[in-house]
Amino acid sequence: MNANATRIAHLSDVHMLDARPSRARSGYSMGHRFLSFGRPLDAVGRRRKVAHALSAARRVGADHVVVSGDLTEIGAPGEFETLAEELHASGFAPERITLVPGNHDLYTSPDAWTRAIEGPLAAFRATSAQEPGRVVEAAGVRFLPLDVARYQPVTRSAGWIDDVALDAVQRRASDAGLADRPLVVVQHHPPFVRNTQAWQWIDGLIGAARLMTILEAFRHLFVLHGHLHSAVNRVLGCGVARVLGATAIVDDKDAPRVRLYDVRDGQLAAAGLVTG
Ligand SMILES: [Fe+2]
Ligand SMILES: [Fe+2]
Repeated sequence: MNANATRIAHLSDVHMLDARPSRARSGYSMGHRFLSFGRPLDAVGRRRKVAHALSAARRVGADHVVVSGDLTEIGAPGEFETLAEELHASGFAPERITLVPGNHDLYTSPDAWTRAIEGPLAAFRATSAQEPGRVVEAAGVRFLPLDVARYQPVTRSAGWIDDVALDAVQRRASDAGLADRPLVVVQHHPPFVRNTQAWQWIDGLIGAARLMTILEAFRHLFVLHGHLHSAVNRVLGCGVARVLGATAIVDDKDAPRVRLYDVRDGQLAAAGLVTG
């Protein structure tokens, strides 16, 4: 890494289960079984993968860690508590970690994220998603962490970016005083409108079209996202990838993948992967 660069580690979709020793192992809910379909309900394994991913981020000298949603499997309090324990054990100071909620984090209750960020995740509150438009200064970039999650049935997995949030992103992006560094929206859903109206309603980001218009207008604006469980590098003008999606830690076997970005001379560029 260039000595003048700062490095961001991006991991996503950890889908943490409650792995605290106190948890009764009497079984999982129907919601867990539906939402984890095709993936083992291995609480200890998921926790271990998060630990390994964070340790890989430390090993490569990450200055800041972004976790782009689906922090938990169903947004149960014990799942947030397990995640908090792993984050606190990571060796990263809380102000060097940015968290945003995903659709899975609100399947249990509408206020699950609020309760988590005021409870077990309180140490990460200042650098994580709260009111839209709040700027988090870190590692040579400015983050705009956004909460696009809403309470919905487990059969739907949409996100919402409303006009208040879009106005806030536009206001920050058009602020000349903030144009000297990358301005990085962190949100769970990708900003793309899906191919069909049905799929957009079920799994898309409601409001994505206007976000794409804003992204196209400001070259220093980036989005780091998750949700798709696959890597995304969408180029928007001038050959620079500015929509960057991470794979899902929950889908990785023994070697969880963490995306890296280097920031130097006011530019943010993908810098490959590290595995835990
Ligand atoms: Fe996910
Ligand atoms: Fe998701």
